[in-house]
Amino acid sequence: MVPTICSHTNVEMPAIMYGTAWKENKTADLVFKAIEQGFRGIDTACQPKHYNEEGVGEGIARAIENGIKRDDLFVQTKFTGIQGQDPQRVPYDPDASVRDQVKQSLSVSQRNLKMIDALVLHGPLKTWDMTIEAWKTMEELYELGDVRQIGISNVYDPELLSALIDVAKYRPATLQNRFYNKTEYDIKIRQICKEHNIVYQCFWTLTANPHILNSSTLQEISKAKAKTPEQIFFRFIHQLGIQILTGTTNTEHMKQDLGIFEFELDLGEFESIKALGPF
Ligand SMILES: NC(=O)c1ccc[n+]([C@@H]2O[C@H](COP(=O)([O-])OP(=O)(O)OC[C@H]3O[C@@H](n4cnc5c(N)ncnc54)[C@H](OP(=O)(O)O)[C@@H]3O)[C@@H](O)[C@H]2O)c1
Repeated sequence: MVPTICSHTNVEMPAIMYGTAWKENKTADLVFKAIEQGFRGIDTACQPKHYNEEGVGEGIARAIENGIKRDDLFVQTKFTGIQGQDPQRVPYDPDASVRDQVKQSLSVSQRNLKMIDALVLHGPLKTWDMTIEAWKTMEELYELGDVRQIGISNVYDPELLSALIDVAKYRPATLQNRFYNKTEYDIKIRQICKEHNIVYQCFWTLTANPHILNSSTLQEISKAKAKTPEQIFFRFIHQLGIQILTGTTNTEHMKQDLGIFEFELDLGEFESIKALGPF
């Protein structure tokens, strides 16, 4: 069983989510397999350049046909601004207002996924005004009950996050960011999240941190606990209170990623990993 993290809008989210980027025509099978293995959270986006959202919907539908309850799943998608879209495959009218683009994008996601719990703004748009227009539209969709919570992604500037929180009627429930040393693991951003009860979601966690995975600290803890360094790092991140994204395509890795809830790092182990970053 995957433990949950509760957002400030009272939505229970699995502490680890299955990420669906870059899976193309394998998306439906992999989503089905991930749910079969025990994942209950799915992250996707209405961005055909990187995600096959229709395939995600297919995988979820197959899981439901096989007995998984819809209410046991948490499905999160994103609105991606025009700058993040493949110009040949924009899933909404590129000439429409930002407000209409957000609404059209959500309609496409609803068609693809049938069920959506959370809508995330994939990143700040070209200007602050455009970003706020998108956010206000997402707030409206939240008020209408189209989604149970709204979040944001790729915000690496603490001032921008604070400014958004200040003007928002509903502050983000989640913030999804790349977790790496170039941004000092978002230590300031994560502090803001903590103060406002915003759940921080991480991606690029394994890809961007080979120096941590290969460190003698991780290697030693890994050996002592008979877990892989990836499991140790994910477990550490879980104990930091971060919601993890993994997009593994490998069934064994799916099991291992879900297996991080079967053991704990003691204080000494936790502190020794903490000393490797600014975590
Ligand atoms: N908001 C954004 O802008 C944004 C950007 C990028 C990603 N995301 C989201 O985050 C999700 C995850 O993306 P990611 O960038 O973190 O990369 P990822 O797709 O999770 O890939 C990470 C790498 O880790 C490997 N891996 C996973 N579990 C492992 C394990 N237990 N042991 C060893 N290797 C393991 C995978 O290889 P195998 O496949 O061989 O296991 C893969 O090479 C995406 O699918 C997407 O949903 C969001």
